[in-house]
Amino acid sequence: MLEIIELHKRYRSNWLTGRGHQAVEPATFHIAEGESLGLVGESGSGKSTLARLLLKLISADGGRILYKGTDISGYSLKQMRPLRRELQIMFQHPHSALNPRRTLLDSLLEPVLLHRIMNKAAAREKALALLDVVGIRAELLPRYPHQISGGQIQRIVIARALMLEPKFLVLDEPTSMLDVSVQAQVTQLLQRIRKEFGLTYLFISHDLELVRHMCDRIGVMKEGRIVELDESERIMERPQHPYTKQLVNAFQAFKQ
Ligand SMILES: Nc1ncnc2c1ncn2[C@@H]1O[C@H](COP(=O)(O)OP(=O)(O)OP(=O)(O)O)[C@@H](O)[C@H]1O
Ligand SMILES: [Mg+2]
Repeated sequence: MLEIIELHKRYRSNWLTGRGHQAVEPATFHIAEGESLGLVGESGSGKSTLARLLLKLISADGGRILYKGTDISGYSLKQMRPLRRELQIMFQHPHSALNPRRTLLDSLLEPVLLHRIMNKAAAREKALALLDVVGIRAELLPRYPHQISGGQIQRIVIARALMLEPKFLVLDEPTSMLDVSVQAQVTQLLQRIRKEFGLTYLFISHDLELVRHMCDRIGVMKEGRIVELDESERIMERPQHPYTKQLVNAFQAFKQ
């Protein structure tokens, strides 16, 4: 579905140090249709930057992005517009995902009305059907984001993404701000909708257990570089790179 070739990014020099900063070293990998690819690595290793690069939310310094075989690297904003529906991202802070001054219903309908995909009545009907899928009662819809819980917000955000019938979702630590029990529920929901809607995921997380559970393959990032990428079980059982070994060992020690 996505093929990434030598994609890289350097941030401009810092006014303090005067040096540029290589956020993502040339990265080459693919994501197959229906797959869930995990991305792990310490804070600042470039996971979010890589995700934003491959969605073209920020511009790369070089490299290519093929989406379903078409090179979209040089696409303009206008050319990207129809693809924005198919390629979406969900962030870690539930509260910044929704406009605090809009009701949940308005937030849910906004993207489809903006893309002029359907009229308001049809959009409402679709929203109600999706609320069932994500496990939210329709009575909550007139409320504002501060009047519901973080877990409920993430469910609304998921429903809003589904309104546009995406094909590929980047989940950038979608549950890291939630407490453990809610985290498990939202994770299960994400698993379920992946199957139900035939979605492809790039799943970013610090949590190796979660990534192993959610993902078919795992890429490990360190200092802007993907140091290892393999099937989840193989990464957990036979890590090759010293940094991956360190991560897996720390995880095993924690579990005992
Ligand atoms: N807009 C920016 N300008 C300059 N440097 C940036 C910018 N965004 C990120 N960086 C730097 O690029 C590096 C990679 O950041 P990135 O957010 O991709 O890391 P991450 O792996 O997602 O970390 P975390 O797990 O904390 O979310 C970091 O050193 C960060 O400080
Ligand atoms: Mg990040």
